[in-house]
Amino acid sequence: MEQIQSVKGMNDILPSEAPLWRHIEDKAREILNRFGYREIRTPVVEKAELFARGIGDTTDIVEKEMYTFADKKGRLLSLRPEATASIIRAFIEHQLHMVSGLRKFFLIGPMFRHERPQKGRYRQFHQIDVEVFGMNDPMVDAEVMYLACLYLEEIGLKGVRLEINTLGCTKCRPRFRTVLREFLLEHVSSLCPDCARRAYKNPLRAFDCKVPSCGEIVADAPVITDFVCDECVNHFDQVKQYLEELGLGYSLNPRLVRGLDYYVRTAFEIVTEHLGAQNAVGGGGRYDGLMKELGGPDLPGIGFALGMERIVLLLDQTLEPFQNGPFLYCVFIGPEAKKYGFKLVQKLRKEGFSVDCDYEDKSVKSQMRMAHRVGASYALILGEDELQKGIAQLRDMHRSEQFVVELSEIVNELHSLAEIEGGRRS
Ligand code: HAM
Repeated sequence: MEQIQSVKGMNDILPSEAPLWRHIEDKAREILNRFGYREIRTPVVEKAELFARGIGDTTDIVEKEMYTFADKKGRLLSLRPEATASIIRAFIEHQLHMVSGLRKFFLIGPMFRHERPQKGRYRQFHQIDVEVFGMNDPMVDAEVMYLACLYLEEIGLKGVRLEINTLGCTKCRPRFRTVLREFLLEHVSSLCPDCARRAYKNPLRAFDCKVPSCGEIVADAPVITDFVCDECVNHFDQVKQYLEELGLGYSLNPRLVRGLDYYVRTAFEIVTEHLGAQNAVGGGGRYDGLMKELGGPDLPGIGFALGMERIVLLLDQTLEPFQNGPFLYCVFIGPEAKKYGFKLVQKLRKEGFSVDCDYEDKSVKSQMRMAHRVGASYALILGEDELQKGIAQLRDMHRSEQFVVELSEIVNELHSLAEIEGGRRS
C-alpha cells in the first residue's frame, strides 16, 4: 500500500519534542500572566476578507501565501496566516472594550502561510501572539518589547538582538512612499519583477526583498526616519528613552519594515544570527487605526508574535532534552499477577503516580528493558509467587537497588519514595 505523508511544510511534533514545546508554552503562559495578559483562542479559519482588510491586500501574505478556499456556499475562507486580525475581530464582535480590564490578550496556536519551506520557515507554524488595545503611551511600546525579550531570556535563549524602527503614521508616511516610489522607479530596470511591481503598489515592501541586487539598490534608498512627522519623532524618542530606562539593549534599523501593512510608528524585530535566512524569532509593532479599519472602535493597538518553531530550533542547540519517564513501571509475570496488576496500576494512577506497564506477556527481561527505555524511576516486579505471599519487588532504577514491599503497603511506600524525590510522582 502506498504510504501517506504529511503535507509539505507541515510538521509533526513528536513525543520526544513535545516536552520542549510544552515548556515553551508553560513559560509563556506564566510570564504573560505576570504581565497581566489574558488568553484568547480564536478559530483557525476566518473569512478571507478579514486578512485582506487587516494585513493589506498588497502584502505577500495576502497576495501569495494565504490558504484560501470557498466553502460549500461559495464563501471565501482562509486559514489564519497570523493572529492579530483575528483577535481584533473577536474583540470587536464580543464588544470586549465594554468589559472593564480586558485590554491585554495572548494567543498560542498554529498559523498557515504558503511559503517555500526551508529551515525555520514552514507552511504550518506556531506563534505566541500578544496584543494590547487602547493604550497610546510610548511606555507601552517599551514594555511590550521588554516582555518579549524577558521571555526569551527566561527560557534560556541567547544571542538575540532587538531591532527597532519607526514607520511613521498615516500623516507622514504617504510622503515617504512617494519619494521611495520615485527612487525605485529610477532603478526599475535593475529590480526583480516583484520589486518592480511593488514600486507602484507597495514600495516599502522592497526593503524586505531577499534578492541580492534589490538589496544593493535599497541600501541607497531614502529611509523613513528622515520623513516622519514631529509627533512620530517624539513618540519614538520616548520609546527609546523608556527602553534605556529598562536597560533593554536595542539597535536602530531604519530599513526595518514589516511584512504586514497595518503598522504605524513603532516596529520591531527580535533577530538572531543562528537561523540562516530566517533570522526573525519574533516581530511586532504598533497598529493604531487597524481596529477602526476592521469596523470597531478607534482604539490604538500594539503587539508582537514569536515564532515557536524558531525558538525550538534555537533552544535545541542549547538545551539538554528534558523528559521525565514514568515514576513507576510495573512488570507482571503470569496471568494472576497480570490480573491483579491491572487493577493496581489504575489504583496507583488514581493516587497521582505516573505508572506504565504493558499487558503483552513478555519476558521479565524484556519488560525490565522497557522500564529502562522509558526512563522509569522505579520498577515494581510482581510474579505469581510474590502475589501469593502478598509482596512484590521494588527496584530503584537509578541506583540499581531492589527491595521487598508488602502489596498492602505499596501506596504508602511509593508516597514516601516520592517525598524523597522532592514530591515528584509523575
Ligand atoms: P510576523 O513577523 O509575520 O508578524 O510573524 C512573527 C513571527 O512568526 C516571525 O518573526 C517568525 O518567527 C514567525 N513566522 C512567521 N512566518 C513563519 C513561517 N512561515 N514559518 C515559521 N515561522 C514563521 C506577525 O505575524 C504579526 N501578527 C505580529 C504582531 C502581533 N504584530 C502585532 N501584533
